[in-house]
Amino acid sequence: MDQAAALRKLRDKSPIKSSQNKTKKRSTKIFAISSGKGGVGKSTITVNLGLSLTLEGKKVLIMDGDLGLANINVIMGIIPKYTLYHVIRGQKTLKEIILQTPEGLSIIPGASGYTQLADLDSNARENLMKSFAEIDDFDYILIDTGAGINSVVINLIMAADEVIIVTTPEPTSITDSYGLIKSIINRNKSFKLSVIINKAKDEIDGRKVSKRVVDICNKFLNVVPKEIGVVYKDEEVERSIYVQKPFIINSPKSRAADCIFRLSRTIIEENIGQSDDDKRLSGYLKKFFANNDNEK
Ligand SMILES: Nc1ncnc2c1ncn2[C@@H]1O[C@H](COP(=O)(O)OP(=O)(O)OP(=O)(O)O)[C@@H](O)[C@H]1O
Ligand SMILES: [Mg+2]
Repeated sequence: MDQAAALRKLRDKSPIKSSQNKTKKRSTKIFAISSGKGGVGKSTITVNLGLSLTLEGKKVLIMDGDLGLANINVIMGIIPKYTLYHVIRGQKTLKEIILQTPEGLSIIPGASGYTQLADLDSNARENLMKSFAEIDDFDYILIDTGAGINSVVINLIMAADEVIIVTTPEPTSITDSYGLIKSIINRNKSFKLSVIINKAKDEIDGRKVSKRVVDICNKFLNVVPKEIGVVYKDEEVERSIYVQKPFIINSPKSRAADCIFRLSRTIIEENIGQSDDDKRLSGYLKKFFANNDNEK
């Protein structure tokens, strides 16, 4: 039995049957995974949620929106030979640099130490857009935007179909999430928002924090973000970081892994982030650059 099959068995549940007609064009859903405060678990959740959706039979691609940090490479324990840097330079196509985990998750390896997406010159943008246009066959694309309320993060979010805001129970994290949501809503009142509470003590703690975020948004912004899940604080997550393996693979029976499995089912079952059929990664990038240039 391969690793992916073993994991499915462990979870004692059969994968959700894909309702997609195989001959139909895939409808790609693009999520930005974001937070007001740094260090709340965005990259950890992006990788593990991406893997969990893959184990449910979905075709998933993840990428670092913040080109310079390459968080995802570190969590996956990958030292890629080629990265987005080579695509930007026109030396490789995106297809040539995309890595696949044994479970089938596709990863665009970030270029460590390289400039931000927003600062690319027109030549580099052209190379990226051309390359991104070749990539269209995914159910979900998860973009780890990095933290903060700066214009790059906001533009990475606004180009997506939906944003998942990661918050922890810390009061500063809740306040900063509110700040980020406010900036998003100021730009687009009907932008789709979801919240995940990470590092919660337990379900009750998580739900309480989740409700607090929603209540503040409802009261002051008149919007109600969707509460899509809670991930428990679990030392297995920390341990997995040290061995550079995603925790749902390293500790599939852990409390945190169970939370991720539930989260991916919620996303599939509730069809969160559903978008137009012709949505493509190149369209995402085009929108991002357009928003970015409008501000200059
Ligand atoms: N559920 C959890 N339980 C315990 N530790 C966690 C959990 N989620 C994340 N962590 C730990 O929190 C730290 C920060 O996680 P991560 O790097 O994913 O955050 P981030 O939001 O991507 O940070 P940054 O804003 O710097 O990119 C890591 O050490 C990670 O192991
Ligand atoms: Mg990160």
